Amino acid sequence: MSVSALDRATESRQVTTQPCAKINLTLEVLGRRADGYHELRSVVAGVDLRDMLTLAESGAAGIHVECSQSELSNRDNLAARAVARLAARVGIAPEVGLHLHKRIPVAAGLGGGSSDAAAALAGAARLWRLEIGRDELAALGARVGSDVPLFFHLPAAVMEGRGERVRSVRLRWHGWVLLVSAGVPVSTAAVYGAFGATGVGGAPAERHENVLRAATADELNRLAFNELEPAVFRVAPAVGRLHEGLERAGFGPFRVSGAGSTLFRLFDDCLAAQDVAAELNQRGLGTHHVVVEAPVAHGAADL
Ligand code: C5P
Repeated sequence: MSVSALDRATESRQVTTQPCAKINLTLEVLGRRADGYHELRSVVAGVDLRDMLTLAESGAAGIHVECSQSELSNRDNLAARAVARLAARVGIAPEVGLHLHKRIPVAAGLGGGSSDAAAALAGAARLWRLEIGRDELAALGARVGSDVPLFFHLPAAVMEGRGERVRSVRLRWHGWVLLVSAGVPVSTAAVYGAFGATGVGGAPAERHENVLRAATADELNRLAFNELEPAVFRVAPAVGRLHEGLERAGFGPFRVSGAGSTLFRLFDDCLAAQDVAAELNQRGLGTHHVVVEAPVAHGAADL
């Protein structure tokens, strides 16, 4: 067997991708739907914080998950559920091992589980050599989690509905994001539950458009908003305290990403972002300070 043929054979039995995290630059809640979900409008950007997911033909019946976080090593893992759905859809009896190395914090508003699920769909489609388009994979993914479809449309996208209507957009801005965690997982369902009590917002539509046109981090930091923030602060007071601490100490403006515990601020200058990260670290304001590039593609986009 020639080297290139061997490569192809190896490649066909194993696929590795690096699914990225996302931040919500805007998040508007337009109302509650009859099915209990909330109608949203959100501009999202991929950020260069990545898990690593390998799918391999295992020769053993079923879908087996091995994850660097043991509590995610089970078939409830969104990536495993996504593969199971795709297998059922195309009539394949899966014999697949999923190896997932987590770097994206869980329940942090960064979409890590959904991103892994999107990567798993694209990876399994590649592994099984399926003729299946991105839109069909995204639609399957929507049934696993509301945020899954958006990962098929990065580097940047506008999502609407409960997340099932997504279109790719171009951000004028490109730069660096400082992520700061409050270190507590936040339940998305609990945040939406609390939102009912906080009230529906109603941001002017042009704020989303202005975000797409903004050229500098300062402009974008001013334009970014998240109508779930008060609900996040009610459900997880530690996130509210961290937000207040950052603003009071003059490090702001920081926004909450999604329904999670991660706060972010955008920078044009990577070194400036790293200086702030180091200072926050020293002062003990938040945890897991990382500076990552944005907007970036998903990782499974090239499969
Ligand atoms: O779809 P996903 O499993 O990520 O959603 C988790 C929970 O968040 C849902 O059960 C629902 O309570 C809430 N949710 C919502 N509206 C959305 C997305 C999620 O109410 N657009």
